[in-house]
Amino acid sequence: MIRHLLSGADLDAATATRILDTAAEMATVAGREVKKLPALRGRTVVNLFYEDSTRTRISFEAAAKRLSADVINFSAKGSSVAKGESLKDTALTLQAMGADAVVVRHPASGAANRLAEWVDGSVVNAGDGTHEHPTQALLDAYTMRSRLGRLAGLSVAVVGDVLHSRVARSNVLLLSTLGAKVTLVGPPTLIPVDWATRAATANTAGQAPDISVCYDLDAVLPTSDVVMMLRVQRERMSDSYFPSAREYARRYGLDGQRMRRLPEHAIVMHPGPMNRGMEITPEVADSARSTIVEQVTNGVSVRMAVLYLLLGGNNA
Ligand code: ASP
Ligand code: CP
Repeated sequence: MIRHLLSGADLDAATATRILDTAAEMATVAGREVKKLPALRGRTVVNLFYEDSTRTRISFEAAAKRLSADVINFSAKGSSVAKGESLKDTALTLQAMGADAVVVRHPASGAANRLAEWVDGSVVNAGDGTHEHPTQALLDAYTMRSRLGRLAGLSVAVVGDVLHSRVARSNVLLLSTLGAKVTLVGPPTLIPVDWATRAATANTAGQAPDISVCYDLDAVLPTSDVVMMLRVQRERMSDSYFPSAREYARRYGLDGQRMRRLPEHAIVMHPGPMNRGMEITPEVADSARSTIVEQVTNGVSVRMAVLYLLLGGNNA
């Protein structure tokens, strides 16, 4: 088993499948009256959050507690970070307190990788800047597999603000490894140039591209098994990437009318938090096709599996 989980690229198909299968076993614990396993008794998990989070922070806490680990929750607000303490010194302080695993969210891309150089325990990237969010990709893959029965061969459209999305990057890496076909959809200003070039070059050379890019949402809907809507991340935008919110919603928002262009079996995903009325309408978010709430539930099982396997539960 790997020591750290920093990127979707850390996972080969066998390791990713093992995590998803373990998560399925962990999910059975949630149905019990006592939702606890003794697997990580005596181990310490630190949740180190330098950036806001609802789902990821709470689900890592729930996951660690369900495995009987001791949990320390650290948020930069209210800590000595406000006095200027560096990430390295904070990490060494946590290490001195005996952290077996550090779950980190940070606004700087690459922060989780740096942390992994400084601590002895396992590091789990819970979102670093615009870089990666691998446990989100795992819970998304878990949700697709449990709803649609497989991952290989699925057509997955990842729609919207791909440029600023660590969720998109981790999903592209993991889904390609697991054999799904990813199409990135959005305005040209919000699709990373290197990915658009990669898709175009592979097409010209006559090779099957590992990802494709399309600027027309309506064109990809009829052949998609999964539509993953991304939040427009205004907090990461220094420029105006589209004319107006209304124009964005008109071209790239998923509303009821567009949703009806999807095949019967297709699902609609969103990592949350949503901008309702912008990238997704309430009609779609609250529809039977939406897996948004299920993704949150699955996140706990997937994070239990990740902590269990990284910390050598059952001599993993
Ligand atoms: N919650 C996800 C993240 O932290 C997606 C988002 O914020 O839009 O990356
Ligand atoms: N999906 C996700 O990472 O949500 P939070 O930012 O609320 O953790």
